[in-house]
Amino acid sequence: MSESHPRSMSPSANVADRPEDVSGFIWERFNSDAYFTANYGRLRSDDATIIKIVADYFKKNQPVPDLGQAIDVGPGANLYPALVMLPYASRVTLFERSFANRDWLARELDTPHGSWWQFWDAISAGRSAYDPINKPLETLHGRVRIERGNVFSLEPDQYDVGTMFFVAESITSRIDEFQRATRLFVNALKRNAPFAAAFMRLSSGYVVAGERFPACSIDEDDVHRALAPVARNVTVHRVRSKGLRPGYDGMMVATGRRK
Ligand SMILES: C[S@@+](CC[C@H](N)C(=O)[O-])C[C@H]1O[C@@H](n2cnc3c(N)ncnc32)[C@H](O)[C@@H]1O
Repeated sequence: MSESHPRSMSPSANVADRPEDVSGFIWERFNSDAYFTANYGRLRSDDATIIKIVADYFKKNQPVPDLGQAIDVGPGANLYPALVMLPYASRVTLFERSFANRDWLARELDTPHGSWWQFWDAISAGRSAYDPINKPLETLHGRVRIERGNVFSLEPDQYDVGTMFFVAESITSRIDEFQRATRLFVNALKRNAPFAAAFMRLSSGYVVAGERFPACSIDEDDVHRALAPVARNVTVHRVRSKGLRPGYDGMMVATGRRK
């Protein structure tokens, strides 16, 4: 098996069962190009659904200040959460543990793939907040900061808006670490800041370019339980995603505000 996503690959044994994978070495073997091609080389219907949920949520629940500090935790090879936050952010921090992914992101922002325009069209269509942004990838490039970081070391109270897509449940098999990662992400936001977090539902692990990665099998109740201590006005949406592989049952997107 050559290319993959936590969403699109075969179930597998966990590689990073070690608590927090302290060394982080498996993430240096994350094949960003393969991951991008399999998942973001074109706009898929599940991502289009997620974009609608998240862009509409931020439209109705705009961060204060208007142009604040945004964070996307664990961007990997995915630029669309950052693009969704663009109208609300003077700075977008891409907070990524893996050098391989940080390096890929820097190169991608220099010479972006054309497929991001499919994502941008879905994000911006019918939402006036995006109208002033004519060159989204150039604008993102100008506002971005690619930062080396570990979700388990995030400082609290820093950001005005945040996203974390397919990270907390896709970096560990342990429910306590999934919860901790989710809570530390929300805690990194300032009080009342809006957020969106996407999760694989009932995932049993995934393979990227032959390398196996872990997953924690979670459902809507697990997401609610993880968020309850730190977030309010939480909605967990189930997103249909069929036929990609065995070993998962759709996706979930949680929206809400930090308590
Ligand atoms: C399954 S990928 C998700 C990528 C992307 N967010 C997406 O939507 O497809 C998980 C990402 O989390 C990153 N990651 C792994 N451990 C992390 C940690 N402790 N802190 C922050 N990011 C981490 C990985 O390098 C990878 O980019």
